[in-house]
Amino acid sequence: MVGGYLIGSIPFGLILTQAAGLGDIRAIGSGNIGATNVLRTGRKGLAAATLLLDGLKGALSVLLLRWLAGDQDLVAGTAAVLGHTFPVWLGFRGGKGVATGLGVYLAAMWPVGLGCCAVWLAAAKLTRRSSAAALTAVAAAPLLALLLVDGEHALLALLVGVLIFWRHEGNIRRLLAGTEPRIGEKG
Ligand code: G3P
Repeated sequence: MVGGYLIGSIPFGLILTQAAGLGDIRAIGSGNIGATNVLRTGRKGLAAATLLLDGLKGALSVLLLRWLAGDQDLVAGTAAVLGHTFPVWLGFRGGKGVATGLGVYLAAMWPVGLGCCAVWLAAAKLTRRSSAAALTAVAAAPLLALLLVDGEHALLALLVGVLIFWRHEGNIRRLLAGTEPRIGEKG
């Protein structure tokens, strides 16, 4: 659990943007350290790298614990997303958990991960908002897990989903007010 948390807590968006000389990503756009906000800097490659590395953290945590202790997906996946959303290094103010959660799903239950990608793409096409797409995909995950995997993985998707919805409180308020920026928009 501690290992998963520590892996999840590496703030790649912050590290990459600082290394690229863009300053503190938390002072840009939504202030989030995730790929959607890194995209607001105009650096698509950095945003893609953030998405990939944040996703890998989730996947690595699940696969590492499986290798060490058998199927511990519930613990490993929840710990990784907790690490990303509440990292000790950033005063427990981290990202929103979407990419890391997706990495967890792809490693722990790949059909659910792929299903979430499809839901994200459809919702993003419809709404043009990353947060709306993410929340729709995350809401679908427990049901997909229950249908395609088992109850324990549905619980994992539920716990990850609660964390992600919690961290999207501001986005939900902006979505309801109609002020949430579109994907790529400065905001
Ligand atoms: O994955 C994060 C996304 O759902 C929202 O990001 O920067 O628009 O708050 P942001």
